[in-house]
Amino acid sequence: MCGIIGYSGPLNARKVMLDGLAQLEYRGYDSAGIAYFGDDSRIHQIKTTGKVSRLRELCGSLDDEVSHCGIGHTRWATHGGVTQANAHPHTAGRVTLIHNGIIENYHQLTEQYHLEDRLLSQTDSEVAAWVLDSVYDGDPVGSIRRFLPLLEGSYAFCIMFSDRPGEIYAVRTVSPLVAAYTPSGSIVASDLTALIPYTKSYFVVPEGMILKMTPYQVALYDEEGCRKDPEIMVVNWNIDAAMKNGFPHFMLKEIHEQPEALKNTILPRISKGLPDFGDDGISDEIFLECSQIRIVACGTAMHAGMVAKAIMEPLLRIPVTVTIASEFRYENPLIDSKTLVIIISQSGETIDTLAALRLARSMGSKTLAIVNVKGSTIARESDYVFYTHAGPEIAVASTKAYSVQLAGLYMICCRMGLVRGCITKAEGQAFMAELLEAIPAMEEMIKEKDHIKSVVSHLVDQPDAFFIGRGLDYAFSLEGALKLKEISYIHAEAYAAGELKHGTIALIADRVPVIAIATQSSILSKMLSNVREVKARGAFVVLITKEGTAVPDDIADIQIRIPALNDHFTVFPIAVVLQLIAYYASLLKGLNVDQPRNLAKSVTVE
Ligand code: AGP
Repeated sequence: MCGIIGYSGPLNARKVMLDGLAQLEYRGYDSAGIAYFGDDSRIHQIKTTGKVSRLRELCGSLDDEVSHCGIGHTRWATHGGVTQANAHPHTAGRVTLIHNGIIENYHQLTEQYHLEDRLLSQTDSEVAAWVLDSVYDGDPVGSIRRFLPLLEGSYAFCIMFSDRPGEIYAVRTVSPLVAAYTPSGSIVASDLTALIPYTKSYFVVPEGMILKMTPYQVALYDEEGCRKDPEIMVVNWNIDAAMKNGFPHFMLKEIHEQPEALKNTILPRISKGLPDFGDDGISDEIFLECSQIRIVACGTAMHAGMVAKAIMEPLLRIPVTVTIASEFRYENPLIDSKTLVIIISQSGETIDTLAALRLARSMGSKTLAIVNVKGSTIARESDYVFYTHAGPEIAVASTKAYSVQLAGLYMICCRMGLVRGCITKAEGQAFMAELLEAIPAMEEMIKEKDHIKSVVSHLVDQPDAFFIGRGLDYAFSLEGALKLKEISYIHAEAYAAGELKHGTIALIADRVPVIAIATQSSILSKMLSNVREVKARGAFVVLITKEGTAVPDDIADIQIRIPALNDHFTVFPIAVVLQLIAYYASLLKGLNVDQPRNLAKSVTVE
């Protein structure tokens, strides 16, 4: 997905936009551009492939040409390669716009409006600009209202019309937009990180409503063209939370923030030692009435769901199924009013996860979202929301969001167990005490980072790596493999250790790195046998076990010990180990840890 910003006000618009785009760059970073009204009241445009820093260079001295109204964009390519022509903004006649999303019928529109010979780019966004220009009659709001029904797909647009200097129009469906009128002027952006330097009060641009921004006001118009008051919200974190604060990378900062994030997520929800969701407005009925649980998410969030399944099913004795959102939405799922669908999403904007949520609701299921971004689309559309309090997660590789998602899932599991009579109050209090033990255990592993770092020199020159485990440890290994893949580009695969012998062990050869996770006591001996099998075939083995676990010294090349938590809670310190392995591998390879190639922080396109 892309980063979008629009500004109209007394400040230097180019500076506001460049600073904002730098904050939004984690959302997409293969090209960037701005368009602004110059002192000649004409629209000027600068765009380039590469990062915002390159765009800033091209802008030269920001005081040379002071503008007070403009739009800016960082791109994550969907239609068309990474080229200057495909970078946003796009100008078509009197319209200049930037876009986040996918216009699915852009081929039909290209034919319908005979645009073939006019297009300078390969993007759906430029097609949209030409279509808007063709319906523009001098009335921006009315023209946009006629324009929107012509489109199919998702969008967040910021639009300027050449005959309306100082004005910016914005509209969205599915893709996110937040806005505010501040003492520094009017501002709209893809997410709060670009607004925070100017205000803590903001509103989400409602889908289908048209936002008009001038230096002196922001106005919302509904489908009938009537003015509507925005629903003002207040941010509960400050700009420091979205800065590196002395860490070399956001990812390392966010790994360190995990203990605090867990405290902020768990502690406000404990009453008499038990989970209490009263302030969240989550009723026990959804826990009592459901006959099955479906967990739906993408990527790391889905991996959190896999851990939850392994915890919930043994305790609740009802089916818990984890499905990738992009599959769930097309599988005509067996769900009904007795199904609790738990939706997990850090950003609350992942389009496949949002579509799955909408499908679940349309089929009568109760939906409970575990979301980190307040006021996000998934949060607003779910029946119930469990907000995690990790603060903004800027690094593309999710770390603290994973840990707090797990904390939320563990608390939900405990609450469900209590209300369904699966556990006693004393057992529930013991469960919560063990969950809180995870916090110092994570702090312990963060202190071990130098020892953990010693692993990566054995990884980085290898094309492949394997993460193996059994039971919960297998669920943990899924996340370890994704972390390593997405920021070090080493092909990593998570494998159920008991399944290795059914084919994959053929890939184990001399020095192939295998990260073995062995914290589940009941299957420890089986797991150690699997470790010996790969070691016997030349693998370089890193073994992760709990302190006090009896293992032969020569069973692995490197051993990493985590605090001896209850088996069900080892995911928290292990998460830190796996995150640090990935972090240091990426660093040693000299890669961009926070903004890995081809990725974006939240996937708001299908
Ligand atoms: C994980 O490191 C990735 N950033 C990615 O898998 C992410 O977890 C996934 O895209 C889901 O994002 P969400 O939690 O914002 O929905």
